[in-house]
Amino acid sequence: MRGQIPPGVAVDLGSGDGTESRFLAVNGWRVHSFDSAPGIQARVTGGLTQLDAARISTTRIAFEEIQALPRNDLLYAGRSLPFCAEAAFSRLWTVIRASTRPSGWFVGDFFGLHDSWLGRSDMNFHSREDIEVLLNGIEILEVTETEGPADTPFGAKHMHLLTVIARS
Ligand SMILES: C[S@@+](CC[C@H](N)C(=O)[O-])C[C@H]1O[C@@H](n2cnc3c(N)ncnc32)[C@H](O)[C@@H]1O
Repeated sequence: MRGQIPPGVAVDLGSGDGTESRFLAVNGWRVHSFDSAPGIQARVTGGLTQLDAARISTTRIAFEEIQALPRNDLLYAGRSLPFCAEAAFSRLWTVIRASTRPSGWFVGDFFGLHDSWLGRSDMNFHSREDIEVLLNGIEILEVTETEGPADTPFGAKHMHLLTVIARS
């Protein structure tokens, strides 16, 4: 993340092993971590002091089930949003936009239309133009597009990634 942003409330969507949630918590942020995988609490808060762990709340939930998110100054979604089923993405995105405080940040990844997983209905894919529409009304500070072969836990693929930094 660029520069020094004073700590506030962060939402980590699809928090995985919790690296980013822990980083934020030890830097004074209040963090709400969401992921559908079991063991989220132990995974995300493991190795933290009691004080830092107390800054993190974890919720095991699928993106498709999320009805509301805590109001936040930063919504981080690292390589996770593409795993929301296409049919549920629009509603999830509305929830995400509604959760952002004025001047809040969105930092996240989308999969682009050259991604070899394109067409999977359990996922979603977006062009740069789609992303500009999704972020309508927010200042887009950076869109970094990368493409190439990638090894994933699900096998080799062609990855097309668009990483966005935006601010309300
Ligand atoms: C590629 S990992 C990214 C983890 C972390 N954000 C990072 O940047 O390293 C994707 C994460 O999204 C979670 N995930 C995938 N599909 C999901 C869904 N439909 N609902 C909630 N979480 C999901 C997975 O359990 C996994 O932890």
